[in-house]
Amino acid sequence: MTEKDFIPKAYPAAVEHGEVTWQSPSNIALVKYWGKLDNQIPANPSISFTLDSCRTTTKLKFQKKQKSAADFDFRLLFEGEEKDAFRPKILKFMQRVEPYLPFLKDYEFTIETSNSFPHSSGIASSASGMSALALCLMSLERQLNPEMDEEYFTRKSSFLARLGSGSACRSIEGELVVWGMHNNIYRSSDLYGVPFRDEVHDNFRNYRDTILLVDKGEKQVSSTLGHDLMNDHPYAETRFRQAHDNLDKLKKIFRSGDLSEFIKVVESEALTLHAMMMTSQPYFLLMKPNTLAIINKVFRFREETGLHLCFTLDAGANVHLLFPEKEAQETLEFIESELKQYCQNGQYINDRVGSGAKKLA
Ligand code: DP6
Repeated sequence: MTEKDFIPKAYPAAVEHGEVTWQSPSNIALVKYWGKLDNQIPANPSISFTLDSCRTTTKLKFQKKQKSAADFDFRLLFEGEEKDAFRPKILKFMQRVEPYLPFLKDYEFTIETSNSFPHSSGIASSASGMSALALCLMSLERQLNPEMDEEYFTRKSSFLARLGSGSACRSIEGELVVWGMHNNIYRSSDLYGVPFRDEVHDNFRNYRDTILLVDKGEKQVSSTLGHDLMNDHPYAETRFRQAHDNLDKLKKIFRSGDLSEFIKVVESEALTLHAMMMTSQPYFLLMKPNTLAIINKVFRFREETGLHLCFTLDAGANVHLLFPEKEAQETLEFIESELKQYCQNGQYINDRVGSGAKKLA
């Protein structure tokens, strides 16, 4: 599919008003998206686990205007309260997706949104938030075009979510999603995420992700600035090539179920992401002392127990701990007794791999 396939023809149906609600999860990248070209095209392919309980619920109410206006018209309520701080991001999203949703200026919208995870936990809400909004808008488009098939609905939802926030395009479906062209991944695309359709070993079923909230403050580096750091980065080309290679490695690992090899790829990706930030101009150090303390404890735990606990990081100090379901009991006990102390207010979130966004009745 190309961008043009997402530009609709005249709509066969008319819709006056209504509402729709979607719940969309966050995701955690195993091979990281870091660096982008114009129009939210990723510099390298990435793959993520879709999460389950970290999610955003968004209700979209729509009312057709008497006549189409020159401007977008929307109210934004976050956890029940008007939230002006989020308006610029939504407005930018609307401007970017308008060519693909030409009805946007014909309606007054109310967007009511809330997150399952604690507010300002440092967990990126743009992936779950943007994907939930994209799905709501697609539900309206489906009412305007009832012939729309499921495949188109899903692909276009991911396509629109990407225009809001790159990683959001990986939050529509489960359980493993690839975004970005990769030679050996069937139907992979720079325009939207696709489910990873190869064989996946049972070791990865119900994989766990416990998120340790080390630093709940505002992000030090916005994602826009962060991705820009990869322009003219001295190691950019090598890094982008490495992401392709790591996806090849993961493809084999998912088939074989080799957890030790899985850990090598995933932890190296996390540290590479931070290494890119440390070696860019300007440079950023986003890990905190507690991030490092946790990582060292994870290494020691592995050595002592032979279990397969590993870490990954986003562009911040929080740590995602990934581990197989069958090792969950011992690992969770270790987290509670040894790692909780490094979390702000002792806070962490137990999540696991999930199956993607859901429409609520
Ligand atoms: C480090 O998707 O937040 O989490 O496209 O600018 O909205 P924008 O960036 P964003 O970047 C996420 C980067 C990452 C790695 C990843 O999720 O792949």
